Amino acid sequence: MPFIHFQDVSKSFGQTRVVENLDLEVEKGEFLSLLGPSGSGKTTILMMLAGFENASSGTILMDGERIEDLPPHRRGIGVVFQNYALFPHMTIAENVAFPLQMRGLGKAEIGERVRQGLERVRLGHLGDRRPDQLSGGQQQRVALTRALVFEPKVVLMDEPLGALDKQLREEMQLEIRELHRRLGLTVVFVTHDQGEALTMSNRIAIFDKGRISQIGTATAVYDHPENAFVAQFIGETNLLNATVAASDAAGTVLTLEGGPELRAGPGPTFRQGSVVMTSVRPERLHLHDDPRLGSIETRVDDVVYQGDHLRLHLSRGPLRLIARAERRLGAPALGGPAHVTVDPADVAVFPA
Ligand SMILES: Nc1ncnc2c1ncn2[C@@H]1O[C@H](COP(=O)(O)OP(=O)(O)OP(=O)(O)O)[C@@H](O)[C@H]1O
Ligand SMILES: [Mg+2]
Repeated sequence: MPFIHFQDVSKSFGQTRVVENLDLEVEKGEFLSLLGPSGSGKTTILMMLAGFENASSGTILMDGERIEDLPPHRRGIGVVFQNYALFPHMTIAENVAFPLQMRGLGKAEIGERVRQGLERVRLGHLGDRRPDQLSGGQQQRVALTRALVFEPKVVLMDEPLGALDKQLREEMQLEIRELHRRLGLTVVFVTHDQGEALTMSNRIAIFDKGRISQIGTATAVYDHPENAFVAQFIGETNLLNATVAASDAAGTVLTLEGGPELRAGPGPTFRQGSVVMTSVRPERLHLHDDPRLGSIETRVDDVVYQGDHLRLHLSRGPLRLIARAERRLGAPALGGPAHVTVDPADVAVFPA
């Protein structure tokens, strides 16, 4: 039995459907990230789970029980929302104590839990300050502590690290991962940062217009995108138009724009002559100085240094490719040839 279960949940605001027939299961202890463009419904899903919005139809179960009629504070869910800031007129300690007071705990126990919670995020010495006397990162750590202090079963985080600089963000990512592991929390995490989703999550759900476009492990969605939207949304990719020359259970042979051939491994089969899209990650293009069996001859149009690697712009007639090459292999000559091969297992094919 899944721990959290959205069953055919839809949500409309007025005439606008923003979540469409959502079926989503989250396991106990899982770290699930929701990714998707602005307006795709991520926050709305968290708000329904937390109890701040009602679903228009469908059922949400937690531990097998319907939660629609439970008020937010009875759902055992901690929230860290970017727009759900600390109470400015309260001290840090009072902020953290608030959810415990709401739940009617005794004074001594509240004091002890607040102390422990703030210690855990190394803010024990700042309990008497007000939020505006803390840095952005410290405030986020307080918000996290406030969300965890009543030992929720589930923590929902809506872009909790969005406002932080890169270094602090990475520190907080480690901290959240550590808390997730240590406390066995179930986390549903919304982020705009796909790198963050790939490193933090057990699974990622990619949303498009209120629907799940694909859900799976980081490697599954990155290596085996099921459609062009996901391929483009996660990581960088070469998304190319192609025509099917042949296709069966063993693989598909594609003709790319301008005529070169590209082979894809086993996967769905397509009608010969049909127009499809194919996706190949830049780091999956192998470059050679000389032609090989099945290689595509391209021209090197541009070489861009990117610190640890090179980004190459390649072309062949109308075909444009981006490749990523390790710097230690040396830069190919501008305007010179590069012969490209791709492992069929690294080629994804979708209906156009
Ligand atoms: N209270 C509301 N009333 C009317 N429309 C709303 C309301 N809340 C959200 N919406 C609309 O629902 C859609 C989904 O919004 P939501 O906030 O869930 O998107 P999101 O995926 O979290 O986007 P972002 O990445 O920008 O935070 C948007 O089109 C938004 O305008
Ligand atoms: Mg949002």
